[in-house]
Amino acid sequence: MKDEQESSRRSFIKKLTTATAAVAAGSGLLTNQSQAKTFSIQKRLIGNSPNDQVNIALIGAGGMGTQDTITALQVPGVKLVAVCDLYDGRLKDAKTRWGADIFTTRVYKEILNRKDVDAVIIATPDHWHQQISVDAMHAGKHVYCEKPMVHAITEGPAVIKAQKETGMIFQVGSQGVSSLGNEKAHELLKSGAIGELNYAEGFWARRAPLEVWQYPIPEDASPQTVDWETYISNTKKRPFDEKRFFRWRNYTDYGTGMAGDLFVHLFSSLHFITDSVGPNKIYASGGLRFWNDGREVPDVLLGTFDYGKTQAHPAFNLSLRCNFVDGTSGTTYLKLVGSEGSMDITWDKVTLKRNKVLASDDPFYLDKLKKAGSGYAERKKMLPPEEIVYDAEKGYLGGPYDHMNNFFTAIRSKGKVTEDAIFGYRAAAPALLCNDSYYNNSPMFWDPEKMQLIKK
Ligand SMILES: NC(=O)c1ccc[n+]([C@@H]2O[C@H](COP(=O)([O-])OP(=O)(O)OC[C@H]3O[C@@H](n4cnc5c(N)ncnc54)[C@H](O)[C@@H]3O)[C@@H](O)[C@H]2O)c1
Repeated sequence: MKDEQESSRRSFIKKLTTATAAVAAGSGLLTNQSQAKTFSIQKRLIGNSPNDQVNIALIGAGGMGTQDTITALQVPGVKLVAVCDLYDGRLKDAKTRWGADIFTTRVYKEILNRKDVDAVIIATPDHWHQQISVDAMHAGKHVYCEKPMVHAITEGPAVIKAQKETGMIFQVGSQGVSSLGNEKAHELLKSGAIGELNYAEGFWARRAPLEVWQYPIPEDASPQTVDWETYISNTKKRPFDEKRFFRWRNYTDYGTGMAGDLFVHLFSSLHFITDSVGPNKIYASGGLRFWNDGREVPDVLLGTFDYGKTQAHPAFNLSLRCNFVDGTSGTTYLKLVGSEGSMDITWDKVTLKRNKVLASDDPFYLDKLKKAGSGYAERKKMLPPEEIVYDAEKGYLGGPYDHMNNFFTAIRSKGKVTEDAIFGYRAAAPALLCNDSYYNNSPMFWDPEKMQLIKK
């Protein structure tokens, strides 16, 4: 791996050096041919013929389910035929938005029994993902399941098994992995643009009540309008509690805290960009500092993760942080750091920062120096740009569209998705183990290849 990476690193540096020299010579090369080569915007995979209509149903018609369905309906040849939710208000909204003729129900199995449904979007709270996914695949439906794929570390294997046994297409909803930004970062890392990866970090800063899961509770919320008994039927029995239903993220029976909600996105992107299968050591700390509203999950969480050396990447460390009491608010980022630079990665932009000094082992520079003789030892160098920003082309539909399009293309072509059950489990597992580490006050050990917990 080292030789391969070294040779692509040299080729990357050479491209940069040539481009910089061209700019200095005023040839405009950087903005023309050279730019087209080095900075080309990737061509997107366009889905198959829309004549092949795919009928979908939505299970869990809240915020994300509605958004996912809006995105899915942008893909040509996709039609919504049914919606399931446990709160009547959501079913009413669905009919208002998508037409009175769609079938609505509180019972997801009624959706799975329908012959006119080819695929389902599952966007319920996390504690229902595994069961509905498994049932849906066994009922012959393709599944787009929101992240995290599962609610507990023990639930992953059943989803992987169901996917293998049924052969249905199964995609997990961390949309970033299908984005131009993640693809560009993958390509840059492979080409040696930041040298040897040694560290990565991600961060979320939030403060506004709506951002930190204090959602409004509908005025008509009651045991009549909400199917509470079904909601809690696979977890601890409790009397009706509107907060536990509408603000489910704050409670461990239904949600997966900051790690399952947010860290999981960064694991997905990081694993896609680095071709990694995951960390082997996980440690978390944090606390509940401010939002004393009955929540059971911390509002400040720090996680550190050790990634071992594999065929795909060197050993590196990851640090993830999330602060729901951050007065600066609004920041989210993923950064990869290597021996020669770093990349800040979003779904539609990559900012590459390089070391200021041109590497002394750059073959182009060394060759020139050799030809010039010893009198030129102090000759100044042409410096590459310190920062290069790769921006998605105007009009780019974004990661969510690409991810959905990837799902429907796989259905139509019997192909593969970016984020299947194994990928989804490998992204969810370190997030879930982060919670286990926090609550057990101890590091967790994981075999990411075999996807097994290691007891020490
Ligand atoms: N990919 C992303 O960027 C992203 C963003 C937000 C949420 N999500 C994920 O989407 C899922 C939903 O989150 P949300 O913010 O939309 O929550 P939400 O509370 O707005 O929506 C959840 C909906 O599911 C319904 N529901 C609960 N149990 C059900 C069941 N058994 N059967 C049918 N319906 C049920 C609820 O009534 C509610 O309408 C979560 O898993 C979350 O992690 C992903």
